[in-house]
Amino acid sequence: MITGYGHFVQLADSLQWDETAIDLTADIEAWGKLEDQEYDQILGLLAGFCVGETSVAVHLTSFEAKATIDDSMAACFRSQARDEARHARFFDRVVSEVAGIPGANMTERLEVLRERVSPELLELFEERLPALAYALADDQEELTSAVGLYHMILEGVVLTAGQHALLKALSQLSVKMPGVHKGMELVLRDERWHIGFGSRVIQSADIVDDEMEELLNRGTEASKAWGNLISSDDIDKVKQLHQRRLKAVGIKFW
Ligand SMILES: [Fe+2]
Ligand SMILES: [Fe+2]
Repeated sequence: MITGYGHFVQLADSLQWDETAIDLTADIEAWGKLEDQEYDQILGLLAGFCVGETSVAVHLTSFEAKATIDDSMAACFRSQARDEARHARFFDRVVSEVAGIPGANMTERLEVLRERVSPELLELFEERLPALAYALADDQEELTSAVGLYHMILEGVVLTAGQHALLKALSQLSVKMPGVHKGMELVLRDERWHIGFGSRVIQSADIVDDEMEELLNRGTEASKAWGNLISSDDIDKVKQLHQRRLKAVGIKFW
């Protein structure tokens, strides 16, 4: 069939990377030299990503199953799930090898890290997102609304705000962590096409302007779930970036 989303799949294929190939030697060396405040911020952000990426990777399956109108859309969700699983493995590798979080596997380490994640962030990724995925599977939720929450709010604003905050925090550290920085940039590169794809799904569904504005406002509100790990200025910057991104694909709402 004529595919509307095939170029995203091609793009995803061209952007593949291997999380095990990133050299973390200097990062492991640097970790022990972090100031207390630096340690708390970096580990808090990493913990949020471990929770968030694991959850988004799992729940994309429901999205793929509902993308019956277009094979290329289903293929995009599959490509995206492959990326999200890699992101979860990358952050797990960092918390395990660099931060020394104990545990025999990702699940055990997540249990340890959960203590560093705010109840609000846990609620978004471990309650709201699963509930949405189940509602989608039960035909009680439209795919477009689900993409609105997943791609626009959770990825487009909440995770993006955290990712930018980590890059900024890394650049201000007293020590260098090049491997974590490199991986974070590669994750962000993947997230750009995920959000571009989500924007395209929303755009094709003729979602009305005030719904988009509502989505963005809810995303900004949800970003506060990071608590004091991210400044409100940084959240505003991500909101503006996101508005520009949506505008670039032709969605206007302000
Ligand atoms: Fe991701
Ligand atoms: Fe993503």
